Amino acid sequence: MQSDKINAMKNKLFLSLIGASLLLSACQPNKPQQKNDLEARVDSVLNLMTLEEKVGQLTLFTSDMDQTGAFIRKEYENDIKQAKVGAIFNAYGADYTRYLQEMAIKNTRLRIPLIFGYDVVHGHRTIFPVPLGEAASWDLEAIEKSARIAAIEASAEGLHWTFAPMCDVTRDPRWGRIVEGAGEDPFLASKIAVARVNGFQGDDVYQTNTLAACVKHFAAYGASQAGRDYHAVDMSERMLRETYMPPYKAAIDAGALTVMTSFNDLNGIPVTASRYLMTEILRDEWGFSGFVVTDYTSIMELLYHGVAGDTLEAAEKSINAGVDMDMQSGFYQTALVSLVEQKRVDVAVIDQAVRNILKVKFQLGLFDDPFRYSSNEREKQEIMKPEFLDAARDVARKSIVLLKNENQLLPLDKNTKTIAVIGPFADNQRELIGSWSAAGDWSKSVSLLEGIRTKVPNVNILHAMGSEITGDETSMIKEAVATARKADVVILAVGEAAWMSGEAASRTKLDLPEIQQQLVEAIHETGKPIVVVLMNGRPLTINWIDENIPSVLETWFLGTTTGHAIADVIFGDYNPSGKLPVTFPRSVGQIPIHYDMRNTGRPFNPDSKFTSKYLDESNDPLYVFGHGLSYTTFSYGPVTLSNQSINENETLEASVTITNTGNYAGTEIAQLYIHDPVASVARPVKELKGFKKVELMPNESKTIAFTIGFDELAFYRENMSFGVEAGQINVMIGTNSRDTQSASFMLE
Ligand code: NOJ
Repeated sequence: MQSDKINAMKNKLFLSLIGASLLLSACQPNKPQQKNDLEARVDSVLNLMTLEEKVGQLTLFTSDMDQTGAFIRKEYENDIKQAKVGAIFNAYGADYTRYLQEMAIKNTRLRIPLIFGYDVVHGHRTIFPVPLGEAASWDLEAIEKSARIAAIEASAEGLHWTFAPMCDVTRDPRWGRIVEGAGEDPFLASKIAVARVNGFQGDDVYQTNTLAACVKHFAAYGASQAGRDYHAVDMSERMLRETYMPPYKAAIDAGALTVMTSFNDLNGIPVTASRYLMTEILRDEWGFSGFVVTDYTSIMELLYHGVAGDTLEAAEKSINAGVDMDMQSGFYQTALVSLVEQKRVDVAVIDQAVRNILKVKFQLGLFDDPFRYSSNEREKQEIMKPEFLDAARDVARKSIVLLKNENQLLPLDKNTKTIAVIGPFADNQRELIGSWSAAGDWSKSVSLLEGIRTKVPNVNILHAMGSEITGDETSMIKEAVATARKADVVILAVGEAAWMSGEAASRTKLDLPEIQQQLVEAIHETGKPIVVVLMNGRPLTINWIDENIPSVLETWFLGTTTGHAIADVIFGDYNPSGKLPVTFPRSVGQIPIHYDMRNTGRPFNPDSKFTSKYLDESNDPLYVFGHGLSYTTFSYGPVTLSNQSINENETLEASVTITNTGNYAGTEIAQLYIHDPVASVARPVKELKGFKKVELMPNESKTIAFTIGFDELAFYRENMSFGVEAGQINVMIGTNSRDTQSASFMLE
């Protein structure tokens, strides 16, 4: 409390030093209530600014506390002192953010506060599952809570702004950044995007325990060609709007205050120079009124894309496209004043960009008190609280997907005599927090071995590492085999290192690293029952494991509480309920493979040569979208519809009765899909349009109902207008995207 008071006094002192009318007009100690009020306050600041000061507000540089891109500009402190930068990222901590903020407030004429951003993607100190893993929970409440806690921790360390949620639809597992998103489906990804925005921004973004969200990477970055990072994107308007746009749009509709441009080009126009995306779609169509920031050095990269010949041209293209803030290129800083002087950029364009940014600073309350987020008190109290760790464990176990469980090997008996925990991920802490783990400290994460030892203290637990994650050193395999032979059951933890997914981590092969495959095969030869625990940031082509190992758990990277969460599932204290948010291919050659493909004119027929298939691979994936088993079993009754026909203004209810036919209480995530079999454009064979979590005791049945109407049925028709078409609609409800019950109705 004491230090909070001192800070408050310090802040008052600074604020009272601000003599300009800025304070009188703009720094009212109340949050701006009304739009006009807010705009008036923004303009009251803008009116005082020189062109150079305006350009400063459009510039974002990284501090050297963390590095998340190719280079750091060492002069960022000088830039702050000279009002040449309005925002700083990769700087956190109450003391450090206060230090930098003081630098801005003390040294600059208008004392406009800095905004501090950071990649708080899946937790700040308490690390939650990587986003793809968390998406497997299909639990919007838990996901919102994880973002809320991330915001509480990060804002307590002086941060105002997170570069999240990542809203790219991702259907190419070669692309390492698949780990950062919510998977392949636009509907699920949209719901999750909204949950994350709500979690970060809370009910009222003025509160000091919230962060402004940043919708990234707008647009279509997930479709980088061949899964190679930063690569080009070429797609139809239909695919863009139908598949890739919905999550960005949903996040913006949920009130996200900022948007980040993506690195890719779209149909030849680099996104950071795309007026179509940044102004026509984002602002004119969608009504976005926050600010747009580039990704790291994206304006500079216009030179390499080959659409700008020099710094001036690159900056000109971006600002005129509607890009407000330059992350790390420094091109706005260098070029904008000259561009205005040369009349290549209208000062009104600069003014609008400044307005967009100042508005967010006002909304966050930074003009009321630039130091209000930098509190040593909160920093001490609000970090890794027990209830945060509980929430992390809760969503971590919900994110685990039981891929296979033949002979019901799982859950393991807590009275098993001897268990061997083997593999490079068995006693590993470092990998568990995955990529983009903000200020997370891997040494605080609970290893699988520790989780198991804590869960079953009376079981004889043996351990052998067996191999490194990569490399070709086979010498540890022998000892691991000997260890396995002494056990009743083996838990074998294998996968990818954290660095193998995330930014700049594309792969052309999706197999387990060869050395680990050798380890798995050697342990398998012992004949011992094996549970494989996978840790990875993307779908892997684990066909051999699928064919040979009875029980497989997909655990992604679950964050700080990994070991406890997995032990909860392995020993049956939590019955797994996660479902895959992305298809697992059998081979790289099948990519792109996703559940909502179109039928083709020659649907697969094994008996007919001239149908759509491969000579050397099945069309089917290894695991379908929405797949995930439980320790119990669920049976679905027939789908019943409340009406046989509706018009476009009406809705109907599709219901199904689900029964727990096994021996454990469990949670099923029931999924609703629809298909329009005859339309003006070929429609996907299935599209997810709803899901519900149902908790059932053994023998218990529950009937659930989904409402179907315009929102579920509308699509971009032949002429690209958005609406419905009359005709038959098939409704499918089931446990995954393949195994469904169906019924049909007529849309009149
Ligand atoms: C580059 C990444 O693409 C983006 O996701 C991230 O937010 C920025 N760097 C800032 O670290």
